[in-house]
Amino acid sequence: MAKRLDVGLGERSYPIWIGTGLGPDLLQRIRGRQVVIVSQAPLARHLTKLLAYLGDAPKSVHCHSLPDGEGAKNLQELERLIGCLIEAGLGRDGLLLALGGGVVGDITGFAAACFQRGMDFIQLPTTLLSQVDSAVGGKTAVNHPLGKNLIGAFHQPKAVYVDLDWLDTLPGNQLSAGLAEVIKYGVIEDAAFFAWLEANMTGLLARDKTLLAHAIERSLAIKARIVAADEREQGVRAHLNLGHTFGHAIEAHQGYGNWLHGEAVAAGMLMAAELAKARGMLEDGELSRLYRLTQAAGLPTKGPLDMEPEDYLPLMQRDKKVLAGKLRLVLPQGLGQAVVVSDALDTEILEAIRAVQANH
Ligand SMILES: NC(=O)c1ccc[n+]([C@@H]2O[C@H](COP(=O)([O-])OP(=O)(O)OC[C@H]3O[C@@H](n4cnc5c(N)ncnc54)[C@H](O)[C@@H]3O)[C@@H](O)[C@H]2O)c1
Ligand SMILES: [Zn+2]
Repeated sequence: MAKRLDVGLGERSYPIWIGTGLGPDLLQRIRGRQVVIVSQAPLARHLTKLLAYLGDAPKSVHCHSLPDGEGAKNLQELERLIGCLIEAGLGRDGLLLALGGGVVGDITGFAAACFQRGMDFIQLPTTLLSQVDSAVGGKTAVNHPLGKNLIGAFHQPKAVYVDLDWLDTLPGNQLSAGLAEVIKYGVIEDAAFFAWLEANMTGLLARDKTLLAHAIERSLAIKARIVAADEREQGVRAHLNLGHTFGHAIEAHQGYGNWLHGEAVAAGMLMAAELAKARGMLEDGELSRLYRLTQAAGLPTKGPLDMEPEDYLPLMQRDKKVLAGKLRLVLPQGLGQAVVVSDALDTEILEAIRAVQANH
């Protein structure tokens, strides 16, 4: 039985359906329309099932395959995708379906934002990370050789369908990477959810669907509320970046794709947590719980060993969360709350990274 959440954004509001199988109104939304499905090779099996499900409801269906991996999120692939839309004869009333992880969702959403100055798209997120995070919120982008997500737009999907069955084929390290973002929601917003994750991590890793459904629902309820309150990240939406400024430094240093985004965020959250502990915002016991939960989720509990603390600072400064030259960091305030600080000293940041790297 699918469960519905809503992202409340006035006339741009949209539903999120979570369950096994696709939510009840997908066929209604696509009926009689020209549809282009964007996907990647590892999703072939799910694409076949989706095509069978859509049947002859759409007026036409074209499939576009992106190369696999983060490398596909670039302007060349965007141009190729838009070429496909033109060849498919898509009008502004056409519809894009993004079947895949965050890479497919981000580039498809951006194509939908740009093509003919904006058209509808639907997110069909197939990684845990995209199901709990990237498919909701309307941030769309491609990368520039000089930086990640630098070319993008806010463009909300018309609906999001999370089918738990898609997770059956997801590699284990990708599942863990998604759990990093799930843990993040507990840290920034919900102490009870954090405790629930501690009690259920083994079952989540075993892909118990009831547990996964609960984890996804809680995560998306938090994300939907934050996005509705602050769509353009003027305030509270920044809390979702907990661990990300450190994490982006790791991703940039290691070369995108070598450390998964969620893995880098996991190590980054520990660095933010060490900094918070040093400032008296987080207790020893709370910090230990975060280390234990991170480890239990199969995530790294330190940054890359070939990266010196000093390597982080210039890369963190380059992150787009820097405002007027000031590095803005999200720090946990106890478990279940977060604050943004813009007065963190380089020495504090280095100490926090050293503390994580020294931890056993
Ligand atoms: N827009 C946002 O708000 C937002 C938020 C977080 C992350 N992101 C972006 O998301 C991207 C990362 O997304 P991701 O972690 O989903 O990675 P991804 O899209 O690269 O997917 C990871 C890998 O898993 C494969 N895959 C996907 N679903 C599968 C399935 N069900 N079975 C088997 N294989 C499957 C993919 O083909 C790929 O090889 C990054 O580019 C990041 O910048 C965007
Ligand atoms: Zn993230």
